[in-house]
Amino acid sequence: MVINKIERIPAPPKDEFYREYILTQRPVIITNLFEHTPLSQMDTLDKVRTRLADLPVRVCHNYIAHLVSGKTVDDPRMMNLGAYLDFLKAQPLNADIYVDYSTPQNLLELLPLTQYQDFWDENDLYSHMFAAGGSNYAHLHYDVDQRNVLLFQVFGKKRFVLIHPRETHKLDPIDQPNLCCSSGFFLENMSEVQKTNFLEYTNAFEVVLHPGETIFMPMMFWHYIEYLEPAMSVVYRLGRNPYNRRFAEIFPAPSVDVQSLSLLLINEESVKPEHIAWLNQLENVSRSFKGSESDRQAILNYLCLKMRGQYVGFEPIQTMQELTRRQNILEQASLYSRI
Ligand SMILES: [Fe+2]
Repeated sequence: MVINKIERIPAPPKDEFYREYILTQRPVIITNLFEHTPLSQMDTLDKVRTRLADLPVRVCHNYIAHLVSGKTVDDPRMMNLGAYLDFLKAQPLNADIYVDYSTPQNLLELLPLTQYQDFWDENDLYSHMFAAGGSNYAHLHYDVDQRNVLLFQVFGKKRFVLIHPRETHKLDPIDQPNLCCSSGFFLENMSEVQKTNFLEYTNAFEVVLHPGETIFMPMMFWHYIEYLEPAMSVVYRLGRNPYNRRFAEIFPAPSVDVQSLSLLLINEESVKPEHIAWLNQLENVSRSFKGSESDRQAILNYLCLKMRGQYVGFEPIQTMQELTRRQNILEQASLYSRI
């Protein structure tokens, strides 16, 4: 077995990008998507520090690291980007405090997205920025919103591990509200040999992203990210097709069943009438249920488990956590008879 590499290509035409990458859920690195934009000229920490020192940003603590170590997580706070980058220069290996913030408009104007922004509703697109020190990481997880992602690397290098949702049964997803969409495997604590074995086992993609490059991460993919040095990225989360958008809006904390079912909706042209029927059913149940929020979620999770069994199927259970998750959902099934 080998670890999949991610191809590097110049920006393809819109229809080709849609057909070859979005519909096939194929990660790719686009080498020139933002060339000639003002932000692409700021490819070092010092250049960003000089030009954008006054930009207000939100800094947070590494949530997973604090949770694992049993420490309390302080609330996010605001500071200027210049002050944060000075902190990173003083502590380049800091693994705790990082920037995670909606991209301010004046920064966004330095990185205009002029391609791929209008597959669907442009108003559904939004942007986020990240900056962190050289030993920070994003724990293996998938995002909740069913959006395809374009991540531009401003400065510094980051290692990306991407894993297709079809491998979810190998990833021991954690079934707890405070760790929704996270894996029970901690790549951040593995040796390089362990990591390589794990990536081979999960048919992962792996790549190091350099300044000026943009990685395309397909919706609902698992991702684990390592900062190899102090680094900053700006992310465009693309607008969704109407089906994925409606489905995502029902589930602020999507289970692995939602993750699995979401893939059936990627290609609008091939969404079947029975898929639209289950989406309508979920929306109706979600709107009409009058009980508590936890009961509403229990019913919706039960319906998704059932729909997944009907329309996708299951891999064999590999962890006790997954067995317990399904048992818990089925035990709640009696609620369904009440609506
Ligand atoms: Fe993420």
